[in-house]
Amino acid sequence: MTGAEAPTWAGPSQASARAGRELRSRYTAADLSVFTAEEASRFVPRGTGDPQTDVTLAWELLYRLEPELYDRLASAEHLHPGVVAWLPPHVGRIAEVGAGTGRLTLELIDRAQRVVAVEPALPLRRILRRKLAAADNGDRARVTHGFFDRLPLPDDFADMVVACSAFTPAAEHGGEGGLSEMERVCRPGGCVALIWPNHLEWLAAHGYQYVSFPGAMSVEFGSYPEAVELAGIFFPGAADKVRRLGRRSVPFDALGINPPRDVAFKVLAA
Ligand SMILES: C[S@@+](CC[C@H](N)C(=O)[O-])C[C@H]1O[C@@H](n2cnc3c(N)ncnc32)[C@H](O)[C@@H]1O
Repeated sequence: MTGAEAPTWAGPSQASARAGRELRSRYTAADLSVFTAEEASRFVPRGTGDPQTDVTLAWELLYRLEPELYDRLASAEHLHPGVVAWLPPHVGRIAEVGAGTGRLTLELIDRAQRVVAVEPALPLRRILRRKLAAADNGDRARVTHGFFDRLPLPDDFADMVVACSAFTPAAEHGGEGGLSEMERVCRPGGCVALIWPNHLEWLAAHGYQYVSFPGAMSVEFGSYPEAVELAGIFFPGAADKVRRLGRRSVPFDALGINPPRDVAFKVLAA
């Protein structure tokens, strides 16, 4: 069976072997077969890789092997309302890259006549399509396969090109090539925006401005048991703290992560 045809769900034995394990020890090199050849060439460039030592590889396996588990986490990490309010209220076309299961996409569909959501992981595209089908105006969005460094869109296509918690300066998650592609697809006078960015100095050196919205922020898990379960998987160092807090709402600080309160953006010359 090729990577492209490999099942993207965890069968009962795999699921029980993983139960309770933190992300770092959830997958093994045997799981790399889930990647398509194109995905493997990006995420496992030398053909070998150990998701137990390479946490970015473990995230890519999570998206493909346990997409619903990833979606439970992303659904609990809400964007700051200031970030949502910062988005343009009405434009013609928005392209989003690395759309995942739609945390940002669902905020975009009322703001543009057309939204194109680019997402490489098939299991995440399936969840996103399901959510869009259930959403008012979800038919304004098209979900398509693609990577930062080869966007399936023409020059000057969109008024805004945006990514949320997806772009990094590393080539496999964007890099120089990915930033150039986002800018190619954005029309003159349009805006390229990276929400919840990392590597601010790198982005500033590429001409990106920065805005951050203040205030306390918490991860809103569905329940206290879910907070304990997901903290054990994604934030094992904070799991005891989450247990002691005894509630479903957990400050980002307590988990040791920056909240999604900021945007790096560039308005392209008209
Ligand atoms: C942490 S998730 C964020 C998903 C979504 N934007 C959100 O905020 O919920 C990172 C996303 O980037 C996607 N991704 C990873 N590498 C990528 C690449 N080279 N090009 C485009 N998307 C990529 C992943 O498949 C995943 O959907």
